[in-house]
Amino acid sequence: MADKLNIRWMEETDSTQEEVRRHFSEYDNLSVAAAILQTAGRGQRGNTWHSRGGENLTFSMVLRFGEEGFPALSANKSFLITKAATLAVAKYLNEKGIACSIKWPNDIYVRNKKICGMLIENTLASGNIASSIVGIGLNVNQKEFPAQLLNPTSMTVLTGKSFDLVAELEILSGYLADSFKRVLSDGDTSSASQEYESLLYRKDTFHEYASCPDGQVFEGKIIGVTPGGLLCLEDKNGELKKFAFKEISYII
Ligand code: BTN
Repeated sequence: MADKLNIRWMEETDSTQEEVRRHFSEYDNLSVAAAILQTAGRGQRGNTWHSRGGENLTFSMVLRFGEEGFPALSANKSFLITKAATLAVAKYLNEKGIACSIKWPNDIYVRNKKICGMLIENTLASGNIASSIVGIGLNVNQKEFPAQLLNPTSMTVLTGKSFDLVAELEILSGYLADSFKRVLSDGDTSSASQEYESLLYRKDTFHEYASCPDGQVFEGKIIGVTPGGLLCLEDKNGELKKFAFKEISYII
């Protein structure tokens, strides 16, 4: 179990990712910046992250490597950070009675709905990861969502309960810290990789995808992820196709 973590709560900020970046020297390894309201929350692919103030968890955890941090991690192993983070959120939700899956690379889904998104931003030095800011948006108490969001859900929608954000962030941060230690310090990478694959959304069944940027729709079956984090699909002819993040979108 992790020691008590350093969690800095703010009433309002533009984005906890930016907050950490601006005051990086003040954040030790595994410390957290959390906001009640983000006014310019950032999502993947340059999107905005919508989260109603005071209803959800929006926070960033700092990972440091080298002195006073985790052992050196080569840049080509950066996907281990994604695995550790997603497994921690999945474990946390499971403990709350919410069975979920990981939509590659780092969304957390409950059936066909998104409950959590992540933005993982690394800085590199000499081929290694120097630091990482792991930004997490988890829908907790929000019941209604803007129409432009395709398929959101929340812990409240799924359980009918409401949750104390401060208490829940302490629990979830502990799970994240434990997971990062297990994968990045203890080197428990093969079982983490197996767990990640076993939780993959849509694994081993055929569904429609669009390749990007051409938009061509095809049917494929997810069969796994490479160590570097590419998504592996088999098409109807049994041909193996590998995709980087921006090269494929799910048709849901
Ligand atoms: C996504 O699914 O598009 C990623 C969403 C990441 C949102 C979190 S909320 C906390 C942190 N601060 C941000 O501005 N973004 C991340």
